[in-house]
Amino acid sequence: MRTQVAIIGAGPAGLMLGRLLERAGIEAVIIERRSADYVLGRIRAGVLEQSTVELLARAGVDERLKTEGLVHDGVEISFDGDMHRIDFSGLIGRHVTVYGQTEVTRDLMEARTSSGASSIYEAEDVSIHDFDGARARVRYRKDGVTHEIACDFIAGCDGFHGVTRASVPKKALQLFERVYHFGWLGVLVDKPPVAEELIYAHHERGFALCSMRSPSRSRYYVQVDADEKVAAWSDERFWDELRRRLNPEVAERLETGPSIEKSIAPLRSFVAEPVRFGRLFLAGDAAHIVPPTGAKGLNMAMHDVRLLADALIQHYGDKSDAGIDSYSAKVLARTWKTERFSWWMTSLLHVFPTTGAFGRRIQRAEFDYLKSSRAAATCLAENYTGLPD
Ligand code: APR
Ligand code: PHB
Repeated sequence: MRTQVAIIGAGPAGLMLGRLLERAGIEAVIIERRSADYVLGRIRAGVLEQSTVELLARAGVDERLKTEGLVHDGVEISFDGDMHRIDFSGLIGRHVTVYGQTEVTRDLMEARTSSGASSIYEAEDVSIHDFDGARARVRYRKDGVTHEIACDFIAGCDGFHGVTRASVPKKALQLFERVYHFGWLGVLVDKPPVAEELIYAHHERGFALCSMRSPSRSRYYVQVDADEKVAAWSDERFWDELRRRLNPEVAERLETGPSIEKSIAPLRSFVAEPVRFGRLFLAGDAAHIVPPTGAKGLNMAMHDVRLLADALIQHYGDKSDAGIDSYSAKVLARTWKTERFSWWMTSLLHVFPTTGAFGRRIQRAEFDYLKSSRAAATCLAENYTGLPD
């Protein structure tokens, strides 16, 4: 089999790249090791930057987003119950849109199914070859038969644990990583959110986040130790702990109920350099991971595939490789700025084993500076709503 671009992974990065290339008349095949239902079953975050909303519109998959997306003009930061609102629209005339990543993935997957573009799910033993040569190849097994696809380019959209980055010779890669000694215990509940906007809370007992999926479905998180077990957390214990970390009036308003999903996500900052190896391009979680505190994971993936799609459109359309040749530098420039912001939000709002009394005073002073300085609030607003290119 032959195609122009082989896309490994049908997460939001792979599906969006497939969609943008399809609309530009460039042939692409998506190869995914899981089933479509499994991919859709993963609960992930859901705060979209304006550039991500614009990209979903460009891809022609924003119908539901336009009706179900919740536009937020600000966010609340809480420090030991002391609340401060960051007014995105007042400070910089921008906003974010709350719309679940699962819904973004569903919209992209449905668009691909209805257009009939080629996707191979439940592909086993996917491997990539000769991406540093004249023609790249992808191999996989399906229903016991081994298949090979010859292609001009391979897009590694297969996430942190994927095969594409793992196929790059170690000496060609530089990896940067910070692992945090805590995770986020998240609960999904069919109850109205406790507040109109998200609340990011620092408390001496640990971080907490109040988020939502819709006016009737909410998502809450509390910081727990990295080795904590979900089984140790009854719904009651979770609600008690969440209330203790919030402003008392907010805690009073909290509507609780049976969790419909409960899981612990580890926190990691990770960057691979470079993100292009001949005919192989890494995008999304295959190239970088951010802790979820800045709500950047999905937005970074969308930014990468927009750059990659434009570069490939330029390659096939204008016969120019300027975009392809600058892809890695452009992705890394934005990646490190976003890593910095996500690390800063994580440092401000979590309790670290090493924080100590001095560290807690510094965190408090950082929060007080945020409250008292328009410049500091504007910096947060700019990074949270999405840095300009
Ligand atoms: N072969 C084929 N597919 C693979 C392989 C493989 N060897 N390994 C992984 N995959 C698939 C996974 O099953 C998954 O569906 O690649 C897909 C990667 O999707 P994501 O992990 O969602 O990564 P990405 O599309 O880059 O989206 C990044 O996801 O984790 C969130 O916070 C992150 O929001 C960000 C977004
Ligand atoms: C979520 O709604 O799941 C969510 C929102 C904001 C974050 C992380 C997760 O920073």
